[in-house]
Amino acid sequence: MSKTTRRVVAGRAAIILAAGKSTRMQSEKSKVLHAVGGLTMLAWVANLARSAGVEKIICVVGEANEDVLRSAENLGLEIAVQEPQLGTGHAVQCAQAYLGDFNGDVAVLYADTPLIRAETLSRVFCALEQDCHVAVMGFKTDTPAAYGRLIEQDGKLVKIVEAKEASPAELSVKLCNSGVMAASAADMFSAVARVKNSNAKGEYYLTDVVEILRKDGKIAKAVHADEAEILGVNSRRDLAQAEQAFQAHMRSKFMDNGVTLRDPDSIYFSWDTEIEPEVEIGANVVFGPGCFVACGAVIHPFCHLEGATIGKNTQIGPFARLRPGSHMCENSKAGNFVEIKKSVIGKGSKINHLSYIGDAEIGEGVNVGAGTITCNYDGYAKHKTIIGDGAFIGTNSSLVAPLTIGAGAYLGSGGVITENVPDDALALGRAKQANKEGWAKRYRDAQDRRSKKRKLAGGKT
Ligand code: UD1
Ligand code: CA
Repeated sequence: MSKTTRRVVAGRAAIILAAGKSTRMQSEKSKVLHAVGGLTMLAWVANLARSAGVEKIICVVGEANEDVLRSAENLGLEIAVQEPQLGTGHAVQCAQAYLGDFNGDVAVLYADTPLIRAETLSRVFCALEQDCHVAVMGFKTDTPAAYGRLIEQDGKLVKIVEAKEASPAELSVKLCNSGVMAASAADMFSAVARVKNSNAKGEYYLTDVVEILRKDGKIAKAVHADEAEILGVNSRRDLAQAEQAFQAHMRSKFMDNGVTLRDPDSIYFSWDTEIEPEVEIGANVVFGPGCFVACGAVIHPFCHLEGATIGKNTQIGPFARLRPGSHMCENSKAGNFVEIKKSVIGKGSKINHLSYIGDAEIGEGVNVGAGTITCNYDGYAKHKTIIGDGAFIGTNSSLVAPLTIGAGAYLGSGGVITENVPDDALALGRAKQANKEGWAKRYRDAQDRRSKKRKLAGGKT
């Protein structure tokens, strides 16, 4: 029997298994809430399912994992509680009630395997639609260790054997089980209900589903994936390895797209970093979540950016920190030791040195002098600073918000500006300078006389 005709499928669902204990992480926080590239592993897997066209996602959670429960809810997943945890097969059974009369295809995913690509999961669903009843994502490795082994015959999958149950011949097989398995909901739940726990671990293994369905006369197939995608995270070491694998992937992706990375291994990206071609990035730059960089921008070394939108042909850094809500418009500049938060910096405006700009709206062509600080917080609330086009902010200005500086206004250096400034006005917010002729010389002379006197008297200076 072969499935040569494409079935009409009533949608795709996914069951994410996240009920396991995560003792090896040595963490108060559940394992699947640790982040890779700034996104929790659970969110990675939920995103994976969604980008493979899955509409309905059930997350299987243990009673003790309250943090996972909350995160799953925030991610818009449905939650099935598995208590106690009797194995991966049992976990899938716990999700059945939440799929009601769903009669499409269902994939089982593990929440601790964050790097699988949507394209690979799509191939699993496609295999199911076109040429088998149960598809298992497998990968070849020279170190199969404790992974389940995929036993194939004539291009078809015969069964999955857990390492603990495998014969020496089976153990020598290098094709391993990633954990991802898909079948129609009908086949999946009919088989999982027949799984027994008479094995080395006394657990209900999901992997037994393959042999059960094959004995029903159904066809099982392995869909091959890259070993790097399958990396499962069980410890902090694995987490670091997953992070490195993710970063390596992002670095090559950006370079392939025409982004210059001066020292790729020292540049870190987040899961959602977007960078257009013809951008240059110096060494030691870190992108937190939510960054977009438009073409022609240059990010000099040692910058930290998060939630920042960097416009065309801008110059950032070195040593700039752009916090969430920073929006640098075309041709603007944020130089060394400049921190910006929740502010729009208009076209061609420049903040070249040593400034803090928070909760501000800066117009076009504004020059912000060195040492300018927006005093945006009074200990209770944050207030806004608005600066009109073409204004000149003298060095070492303290802009006490709420404050509006008119277009074309000129602020003298060292001002503490507490009142709004009209368009084109000069604002001076500093004490008037007083020069006392000859004072310094008189002072020095007096000091010299005093110390001479002390020396004559034998005293210490
Ligand atoms: C499983 C597979 C193995 C595969 C390996 C890939 C089985 C029996 N074995 O082994 O073939 O090579 O993954 O990494 O499936 N979980 C629950 N409830 C439970 C038990 C587990 O939700 O009762 C969850 C865990 O949180 C985890 C996933 O299922 O996300 C896998 O469980 P784990 O115990 O790590 O399986 P492995 O022994 O690694
Ligand atoms: Ca595991």
